[in-house]
Amino acid sequence: MNIENHSKVYKSSDDTFLLLKNIEIKKGEDVLDMGTGSGIIGISCAKNGANVTCVDINPYAVALCRRNAELNNGDVKGVESDLFEKIKGRFDVIVFNPPYLPTSKNERIDDEINSAWDGGEDGSDVTLRFLNSFKKYLKKNGRCYLLVSSLNKKALKKIEELDGKLTAEKKMFFEKLMVFLL
Ligand SMILES: C[S@@+](CC[C@H](N)C(=O)[O-])C[C@H]1O[C@@H](n2cnc3c(N)ncnc32)[C@H](O)[C@@H]1O
Repeated sequence: MNIENHSKVYKSSDDTFLLLKNIEIKKGEDVLDMGTGSGIIGISCAKNGANVTCVDINPYAVALCRRNAELNNGDVKGVESDLFEKIKGRFDVIVFNPPYLPTSKNERIDDEINSAWDGGEDGSDVTLRFLNSFKKYLKKNGRCYLLVSSLNKKALKKIEELDGKLTAEKKMFFEKLMVFLL
């Protein structure tokens, strides 16, 4: 794929590729790519025949995912939304690579790119909000692929309560990245 980047939008990295490698999408499925960034995950699902909605809180990301979809002849719907705030309906699959970096208040920066990594004190803030609501947006027997860092203790506890299954992991320098199926 030919993916353009933007200084205010997360550039695909190891987490993106770990998640992308470990999702299974069937033709015709309704897929929600939460926190789409450049759109790479959603566009890849669309190219596999899924009907894709790409969501991001960052307007630059929404614009970039639309642009990248066009560049790659992938048809996606881009929606600017804080998690599910503007989302209606239910999906077969929800994919989310959230901001998971532990970030204190004084580490925040005043730029849209902050939303790419700022996960609050232990990196779990956005993931926990997501985990408290995603089920309402899944169809019966729908599934969710979620990326989590080993640093996100609160999110990991919640995933255990929800009986999430670890499907892939990758050791990084100071953390382990994990993909859960929920
Ligand atoms: C780690 S980046 C992942 C980007 C892309 N999916 C990828 O894997 O390369 C996290 C993305 O989540 C978005 N995000 C953060 N908080 C969000 C929220 N509350 N609602 C929707 N998107 C959010 C960020 O703007 C960013 O694009």
